[in-house]
Amino acid sequence: MNTSELATAVAKRRTFAIISHPDAGKTTITEQMLLFGGVIRQAGTVKAKKSGNFATSDWMDIEKKRGISVTSSVMQFDFDGKRVNILDTPGHEDFSEDTYRTLMAVDAAVMVIDSAKGIEPQTKKLFKVVKQRGIPIFTFMNKLDRDGREPLDLIAELEELLNIEGVAMNWPIGMGKGLKGIYNRQQQQLELYRPTDESKRFLPLDPETGEIVGDNPLKQDAVYQQAVADVELLEEAGNQFDLQKVLAGQQTPVYFGSALTNFGVETFLKSFLSMAPAPSDHQLQNGTDLPATAPEFAGFVFKIQANMNPAHRDRIAFVRICSGEFTKGMTVTLTRTGKPLRLNNATEFMSAEREQVSSAVAGDIVGLYDTGNFQIGDSIYGGKEAVEFEPLPQFTPELFMEVTAKNVMKQKSFHKGMQQLVQEGAVQLYKTYNTDDYILGAVGQLQFEVFQYRMMHEYNSEVVMKPIGARTARWIDPEQLDPKMSSNRNLLVKDLEDKPLFLFENHFAENWFRDKYPDVKLTEKL
Ligand code: G4P
Repeated sequence: MNTSELATAVAKRRTFAIISHPDAGKTTITEQMLLFGGVIRQAGTVKAKKSGNFATSDWMDIEKKRGISVTSSVMQFDFDGKRVNILDTPGHEDFSEDTYRTLMAVDAAVMVIDSAKGIEPQTKKLFKVVKQRGIPIFTFMNKLDRDGREPLDLIAELEELLNIEGVAMNWPIGMGKGLKGIYNRQQQQLELYRPTDESKRFLPLDPETGEIVGDNPLKQDAVYQQAVADVELLEEAGNQFDLQKVLAGQQTPVYFGSALTNFGVETFLKSFLSMAPAPSDHQLQNGTDLPATAPEFAGFVFKIQANMNPAHRDRIAFVRICSGEFTKGMTVTLTRTGKPLRLNNATEFMSAEREQVSSAVAGDIVGLYDTGNFQIGDSIYGGKEAVEFEPLPQFTPELFMEVTAKNVMKQKSFHKGMQQLVQEGAVQLYKTYNTDDYILGAVGQLQFEVFQYRMMHEYNSEVVMKPIGARTARWIDPEQLDPKMSSNRNLLVKDLEDKPLFLFENHFAENWFRDKYPDVKLTEKL
């Protein structure tokens, strides 16, 4: 690719993740998007995969050929002149640090909210990470075909709970059984829900009056009148759309719709893709910026996925490309070791037709088969000049386990396994302050299970784990520490760098502590 071809290719990329609470409709909306992108041919394919009761599907074929279950981690398709990469953020029991780290590899986020439930805990957690990055967030209020909360309420909640301005890009006309359509301020059109004549799904609006041009099938509907009045009110008193604020992550455009009935999804996709940024420059460790269109290849590892199948010992390192062009078989340097690596075996996460990476540019994700070379956060580069990206943030674990080797005679393999898996970033290791007992911390339960499994299968070490439950981790300045402050409700431990922290049983315990020691500063590391 020459310079101008590279610039054109980068400008087309749109890389985002969908954040939501389980059951808000992330899978359903992803599936609709894949349908628009022509990746799957039939609704139900992704859902079937999720529930595990599928016979043959597009997905399974791809998975079989690749021999590793990664297909839904990254989904790529072309739509409306853009090349779209959707990165999956595992939820439910798969929720882990990987979920957070994936957000480090995207340029925008889509937030799906169940309009009957509003903002739920997992959405809040993920939002916090996205907000910190200052990337644009687009909101889809889902399940409009069911009775939900008042639209104004939902928008107000964004500001109250997430501290972000919400700007309605369209407005529901009724909801639940009374859903008639959505009124689109931005595009001056009205989209009818289940129109009798499909060719009349979109009705143009008069830009002056905001009324439907020509025949108005909703004229008699009170919900229509209500929507027009609401929108007028919003235009006068609501937040004003400001693209600069959106791009800075200070304002979120809000769209209403129903993923299940594929209502409003296409409009949403088109609209947010037109605003979402192409891959941006990346800041390097040395303080300079690496342009996404720079000619030499560079990227970083944001996730390593081990294969749970013991027949395949391989792992896949997910690399976000930040500049240049990735080509199969290229040689890169691993910044941490300075070692050259030839990248023969790469997987792209692709539309059904193509399987092996041909070429990929900034914004794209490649999966590299890994035999133990990579660590999470590693930088790799193809040029002569070393490139080192800023380290990925560490996420504070929320679940903790005491861990010991079952067989005391096998301490050596236990320690080796612990050391290596902790280094990989699979789990966080702490030690009790005085007795040096091991405590593992993770964001999600699955991380412990993977850890236990890998200790057994890769290091031949059976570990015993005793849950100490959910805890809030807060670091304390060592100068202020008095070991007497520790109790069962606020366990004193140290991290890998020997920094002291308390694991509080709950918020009451933390508040009690703060009241008792008002001068002690506790910090949350994100
Ligand atoms: P998730 O990935 O965020 O966890 O959610 P998912 O898409 O699996 O959706 C969760 C449930 O919500 C599913 O129902 C799905 O059909 C339903 N759903 C998603 N979007 C809409 C919508 O726009 N309207 C309505 N009414 N429902 C929606 P389920 O009963 O759990 O699964 P299934 O039995 O339908 O497979």
